[in-house]
Amino acid sequence: MAPGDTAGMTAGPIAVTVEEVPAGLTYPLRGAVLRPGRPVEIAGDDEPDTFHLAARTPAGQVVGVVRFHPAACSWRPDARAPWQLRGMATDPAVRGTGAGRALVAEGLARVAAAGGDLVWCDARVAAAGFYERMGFAVVTEPYEKATVGLHLGMVIQLSPRG
Ligand SMILES: CC(C)(COP(=O)(O)OP(=O)(O)OC[C@H]1O[C@@H](n2cnc3c(N)ncnc32)[C@H](O)[C@@H]1OP(=O)(O)O)[C@@H](O)C(=O)NCCC(=O)NCCS
Repeated sequence: MAPGDTAGMTAGPIAVTVEEVPAGLTYPLRGAVLRPGRPVEIAGDDEPDTFHLAARTPAGQVVGVVRFHPAACSWRPDARAPWQLRGMATDPAVRGTGAGRALVAEGLARVAAAGGDLVWCDARVAAAGFYERMGFAVVTEPYEKATVGLHLGMVIQLSPRG
């Protein structure tokens, strides 16, 4: 391999910064990782309460994205202020280096600061272990979602119930 030719190399740990961004900035990675062949926009992307986060490398490259928005949770109807996590994706080149964790941690902190008491998601089965590492718990049997495959309902409680 020629010096400086890093194509195809596995990335080592990288420092990412996480910040709130307009929905459109998350679309290239969201589309490529989660929605190939499907519209990249998700209903509610531009709602005032929805927020989108991006993880960037020091060079400014977006290597992770996620969105959070207030939404009722059918598995936790007693939740006072539930929010949904959607559109979670990291660049395959940085997986396992903490970008996903940084995004979820920042999102949960922001939801808690906004008064949310619970965050839930339809977790792809292959990603359930990641959400468990973030503190989420599985609360459903596996269920099918059209065109995407098996999912598990997962929740994390942010403040005591009641
Ligand atoms: C799931 C995904 C977002 C994880 O992102 P990531 O950048 O690799 O996450 P991190 O590096 O921050 O990992 C945090 C921890 O979770 C673990 N982890 C990551 N992915 C995991 C997985 N699929 N299963 C089990 N554990 C996982 C990591 O090993 C790490 O463990 P640690 O606590 O010991 O450090 C990423 O793999 C992805 O984009 N997958 C494809 C899209 C997808 O499935 N999105 C979710 C849709 S519901």
